[in-house]
Amino acid sequence: MAGRRTLTIIKPDAFGAGKAGLILALLEQHGFTVKAARAMHLTTAQAGEFYAVHRERPFYGELVEFMTSGPCMPLILERDDAVATLRTVIGATDPAEAAEGTVRKLYAESKGRNAIHASDSDENADRESRFFFAEADTLV
Ligand code: CMP
Repeated sequence: MAGRRTLTIIKPDAFGAGKAGLILALLEQHGFTVKAARAMHLTTAQAGEFYAVHRERPFYGELVEFMTSGPCMPLILERDDAVATLRTVIGATDPAEAAEGTVRKLYAESKGRNAIHASDSDENADRESRFFFAEADTLV
């Protein structure tokens, strides 16, 4: 059965532009509730580890640089079928291909500066949630 929790990050472009509240409101309108939240400025080591799966990709350096360019906001969100639903709500990686009304269509500039991250599987949602939050920081 699909899990009820997923991990999202409002990225430095959207957070720095003051769009965190609008994005969170949109996610709540889609039935998500916040189970954990923090605002933080990732170090190069933290961003590099979080995106380690992309280490061999040509955009890895650019991705790490962008994710450390300013504060971001990781959140654990809950609703039925959380991973698949959130990925639909945020839209395609490239905002030019994102559907109308999605977070990336509304707030992203490019494939690199694309406003928001969302876990792509229940397994990664669990791993990524543990990356940012201790059990004690998360609502039951
Ligand atoms: P995200 O969902 O955070 O997961 C991996 C990220 O890599 C992705 O969003 C994009 O921000 C980034 N990414 C993917 N493809 C490219 C690309 N071609 N150029 C720059 N960044 C990319």
